[in-house]
Amino acid sequence: MVFIPSPTVERHVTEAGLKRPDLSRHLSREARARLPNPIKSIWKVAQVKPGTINMGNGDPHHTLYPISEMNFVVPSIDDADPVQAWRTGTGGQQVISSFKDEPCALSLRTAFAYGAGAGLQHVRDALADLNNRIHSPPNHSVSLSLGNADALTKCFRLLGDPGDSFLCEEFTFSAMTNAALPLGIDWVPIRMDEGGLMPADMERILSSWDEATQGKRPHVLYTIPCSQNPTGSTLSLERREQIYQIAREWDIVILEDDPYFFLQYDLDVNSATVAQHGFTRAMADALPRSFLSMDYDGRVMRLDSFSKILAPGMRLGWVTSNHFFAEKLDMLTDSSSQHPHGLGQAFVAELLGKDGWGADGFMKWVSSLCSEYERRRNLFMDVFRREVAKTGFASAEVPQSGMFVWIKINLEHHVRYRRIENSSGGPCTNTAELMDELFRKLLDCGLVMMPASTFAIADRTGRSTEGHIADRVNYFRATFVGTDETICNGLSIFGRTIEDWYCF
Ligand SMILES: Cc1ncc(COP(=O)(O)O)c(C=O)c1O
Repeated sequence: MVFIPSPTVERHVTEAGLKRPDLSRHLSREARARLPNPIKSIWKVAQVKPGTINMGNGDPHHTLYPISEMNFVVPSIDDADPVQAWRTGTGGQQVISSFKDEPCALSLRTAFAYGAGAGLQHVRDALADLNNRIHSPPNHSVSLSLGNADALTKCFRLLGDPGDSFLCEEFTFSAMTNAALPLGIDWVPIRMDEGGLMPADMERILSSWDEATQGKRPHVLYTIPCSQNPTGSTLSLERREQIYQIAREWDIVILEDDPYFFLQYDLDVNSATVAQHGFTRAMADALPRSFLSMDYDGRVMRLDSFSKILAPGMRLGWVTSNHFFAEKLDMLTDSSSQHPHGLGQAFVAELLGKDGWGADGFMKWVSSLCSEYERRRNLFMDVFRREVAKTGFASAEVPQSGMFVWIKINLEHHVRYRRIENSSGGPCTNTAELMDELFRKLLDCGLVMMPASTFAIADRTGRSTEGHIADRVNYFRATFVGTDETICNGLSIFGRTIEDWYCF
């Protein structure tokens, strides 16, 4: 193996006095070639001076919007456990309103007009405030997105050129990695264990990368640090620090896709801190440290979403990144989807505003949501032990966060499990075939679980130290966020079917 010294990274001092590397080399040709949307540029100038008469834009006049008011009925955040109270119908309700012509957090005149790609300032400020209280990111900027899928596909376009290789976990959210393939981006999988991505393997890949035979060394890492989709693993602080150091050493941009960040279980939320400083501070003390929070270089683009903590159909999230990347990202939005929808922005503005839950009430909701999902996770694991693990044919680690359990099928006990001679680097077992058979059998019995093969990234560099990934696809991803009934019935089918499949 040839070990190559890491590149020397040029650094410059930012306006905020931070010594930062020059990250411009990471931009794709598309991002470099992009011109600002000229109409938006003039529109932004027109916003700066209040009272400016704008005769330049084709905006319908707000008096002609067919709406004057929106009322949202939401749970009262005064209940001790708002999620339980809401779900059982025993809690109070609160109505929060947006108006076109009366005072409110974000006027419908503004929310329903054309806006900037980064989103409306009011909402960006509210989310920047939440970010600051949780991650204290050094000198970063917030842009709204239509959720993490939208944000990620834009980040891929921002950073990736045809022929580029990006790093990712060896099992990952393939809906997103597949989206990068038509852009000519190739994925290089990093080995994982129960603790998630293994920093030593990331270092091995980068230090042994031979640009003469493998093309440009990867310059982007796509990672899901909390409740990794699909494995459910959460990176420890130690691993995060190691990964960030490797990223600095090899000048890597980290795409931190973290939709499950807020859904942490077994959290030690200090009630004295809640009483004294509120939920945001208490949750911030207990939540994991994000890559963003350690990002002095500005090499992290962090992607948050409301999908898992409010509702997926909200289609709203936020990207936190250095100002340079943020500006390029906003330019892409300015010339494509234009900006996130006003309806969602109006709702979030009121919810986080003084007449809604406020940031602290929102974090109280999140904390209460964690308790409910923790209960469902515990139920899942109890039923799993009783119905499935007792057979000895499957096992699972208890996830600390998110929505997924990664169920290992102990295939080597199956009577038809075979090792195959293979010197060409291909699979050395019939794991994939047997797992496909089990998947179909479960389907016939009325149960869908996601097979690991759906998420597997094959190593095309031919340099993996651990053999072919098809030999490690003996897992299913199952979610525990359904009802108690789906959890009990689903796992009961699973236990019976797997026993039947092994024994007959
Ligand atoms: C890891 C990961 N990234 C991104 C997404 C997409 O999230 P959003 O609904 O915010 O687009 C999901 C959704 O399941 C996900 O699990």
